[in-house]
Amino acid sequence: MKNIVILISGGGSNMKALVGAAQRENWAQRHGARIVAVISNKADSAGLAWAQAQGLATAVLSHRDFATREAFDAQLAQLIDQHEPALVLLAGFMRILTPGFVARYEGRLINIHPSLLPAFTGLNTHQRAIEAGCAFAGATVHRVTAELDHGEILGQAVVPVLPADRPEQLAARVLSQEHQLYPAVVARLLARQAQADALS
Ligand code: GRF
Repeated sequence: MKNIVILISGGGSNMKALVGAAQRENWAQRHGARIVAVISNKADSAGLAWAQAQGLATAVLSHRDFATREAFDAQLAQLIDQHEPALVLLAGFMRILTPGFVARYEGRLINIHPSLLPAFTGLNTHQRAIEAGCAFAGATVHRVTAELDHGEILGQAVVPVLPADRPEQLAARVLSQEHQLYPAVVARLLARQAQADALS
């Protein structure tokens, strides 16, 4: 069975969508994969209690307790590695990861970003899309590389930007698409992986 670990920082709505899809679509039986743990860098992440109630392992590791990014990432890797994950999914995990951490999980580390990459890497994506006069915005699931919000694009969802949109309205429209996109992309990856395993 392949283990999946999810990292969050906030509300965790993408994490909930992933866990819900894994249950509904029976990823264990279909793909031989299961979500086993949710780790947050913030103790007050709303999603943690929910994850615990679903029977998942949860952990909090505050970046504030570490003097350097390297020290935080090393401890985070230790927590993650307890689960020997085949995939590590960043779902609203708001920390920039060190190149060493990214290299350790090469090929296993995936992120969702609320823009149509390569446009609008970084923060405030919705406000920037509105200010730029974009007719469309969206979200991207991509592999994580050492360069922020770069890496192979695995899937995208597109939404219109409406004339009266404020950033919050656009963000809500994009987020509801993220909840479809992220589980669909992960399921596709798992299916592809299971197929490759069967052939090897
Ligand atoms: C999402 O828009 C995600 O793309 C971005 O942060 C937000 C997290 O939302 N990286 P949630 O914590 O999954 O609700």
